[in-house]
Amino acid sequence: MIRNVLKMGDPRLLETSSPIAQFGTSELDALVRDLLDTMLHLNGAGLAAPQIGVGLRVVVFGFKFNSRYPDAGEIPETVLINPVLTPMGLEQDSGWEGCLSVPGLRGEVSRWRRLRYEGYDANGNGICRDVTDFHARVVQHECDHLDGILYPTRIRDLQRFGFVDELTPTRVAESE
Ligand code: NI
Repeated sequence: MIRNVLKMGDPRLLETSSPIAQFGTSELDALVRDLLDTMLHLNGAGLAAPQIGVGLRVVVFGFKFNSRYPDAGEIPETVLINPVLTPMGLEQDSGWEGCLSVPGLRGEVSRWRRLRYEGYDANGNGICRDVTDFHARVVQHECDHLDGILYPTRIRDLQRFGFVDELTPTRVAESE
């Protein structure tokens, strides 16, 4: 079912979410299905449970091609529960991010370039992956939602924050 996505300003987006205690339940399956349906409907690169008003540590992400991030490579569709992130090395990358809870805007955010993420799928099977670049960025962005962090609070230079339509010429110039 496609769910309503909460927008920045809703206090539920600022809360710390609780871990999932039981896997393989019909409630968890329904939550995961709703997250995937909603993400696909809105062309999101990812979505976290608090964004649909559910304060549980569940995120989904992945796409083959994403029209909101046309330069990004494929990321496998992933359900990640109770995630633990470990940066691999000290290297950070700046990149533009958007968020379905902050529609129409983009901002430049610094993230770990290399990352290990661990967690579980909806049946309780373990997941462990080492990733880099946009894949690592998406995971960090989604997992931030579980701690009540929205990307605008991570922007260091607020001149690098604005509406997608207005920023596009700048972004094109930078990539050339
Ligand atoms: Ni987001």
